[in-house]
Amino acid sequence: MGFVRVGIIGCGTVGTGTAKLLIQNADLIKKKTGIEFKLVKVADIDWERKREFEVPKELRTTDYKEVIDNSDVVVELVGGKTFAKKVILEALEAGKCVVTANKHLLAEEGKEIFEEAKKRNLFIGFEASVGGGIPVIKALREGLAGNKILNILGILNGTTNYILTRMFEENLDFETALKEAKEKGYAEADPSLDIDGWDAAHKIAILAMLAYGGYLDFNDVYVEGIRNVDKLDVELGKELGYTLKLLAIAKKVDSEVEVRVHPTFIHSEEALAKVSGVYNAVMIEGDFVGKTMFYGQGAGSHPTASAVVADVIDAGRFLLCSSKVLPPVNWEEGELKVRKN
Ligand code: HSE
Repeated sequence: MGFVRVGIIGCGTVGTGTAKLLIQNADLIKKKTGIEFKLVKVADIDWERKREFEVPKELRTTDYKEVIDNSDVVVELVGGKTFAKKVILEALEAGKCVVTANKHLLAEEGKEIFEEAKKRNLFIGFEASVGGGIPVIKALREGLAGNKILNILGILNGTTNYILTRMFEENLDFETALKEAKEKGYAEADPSLDIDGWDAAHKIAILAMLAYGGYLDFNDVYVEGIRNVDKLDVELGKELGYTLKLLAIAKKVDSEVEVRVHPTFIHSEEALAKVSGVYNAVMIEGDFVGKTMFYGQGAGSHPTASAVVADVIDAGRFLLCSSKVLPPVNWEEGELKVRKN
C-alpha cells in the first residue's frame, strides 16, 4: 500500500470540513507523518446544496457502497443512528478501518460496534465524537492512561453553552438565545438533542466508558437539559457570583460510576465558569496527574474535521506501521532553523 485511501460518507458540515482539510493539508500531513493520505470518494445524497468547500466532482458519489469498496479508511459522518450503524458495520465487515464522529450511536450502541471492530482487529477512531476539536479521547486513552480517573467535569455541548453565555452576558431569554445558536449553525439538526442535554449525555457516557473501562447502559445516565432555565435563574446566580452551566459529570463512587448531565451553578471565578460561547472544556482529575483541563471549540466544521483527521492519521499508522509507536519527532525536515534574537 503506497498510500492510504480515505472515503467519506456524509458531506454535511463536518464532512465538508474533513474533505477540505484532507485536500488542503495533504502535503503537510504527508511530511509530518510520512504517510500519504488520498481522499478517493465522498458520498452524499445531495450534491446541489451549497457548501463552504467544493468537493472535486470526480470524488463525488451518491452511493455509499462505492466509498466502502474504494477506501482503506471509511469516515462515517452521516449522523443519526440507523443508517450510520449500517454503514459502520458494513465497512467493518468489508475489513475497512472506520472513523466516526457519531456520539449518539456510540453512547447508545457502541458495544456492538466496538466488539465488531475488536473481533476483526480493525481500527475504529472516534475522537470527533466528544469535544469537537479537543483531543480529549486521546488524552484519556494515551496521556492519562496510567491514572485512576477520579472524576470528569465537562462543558460538552457548544449550543447550550452558547445559549447560557448569551443569557448570562446579554440578559437574553432562552428562546432568543436558542434562535441565535441555530442561526450560527451550532445546533444539531434536531436541537432538542442539545437543549435537553442528550448530546452532552452521549459525550460524557463515551468518556465514562473510556475512563472506567467498561460499557454502560445509556438509560442509566441522568439527563436534564436547559429548556426550563429562566433568565431570572441566570440573573440571580450572577448577582450571587455564580454562572449557570450545563455540566456533564462522571465519577467513580465506590464500585459504581455516576454519570449525569444537568444545569449547575459554578462559582464565577472557577475556570469552567469562564468557558464561554461555543467553546467546550473538560476537567479530568487523575490520582497521579491531579487536575488537568482541556479547552477548545466543541463544534463546527473545521475544529471537528481536525479531530476526524487525527483519527484518519491513526488509522493510517495502524495500517502501514502495524503499531502506534511514533517517531520522537518528524525528522524529515532536517535541521530546524531557530531565529536568533
Ligand atoms: N450540537 C453539538 C454541540 C455539536 O452544540 O456541541 C457538536 O457535537
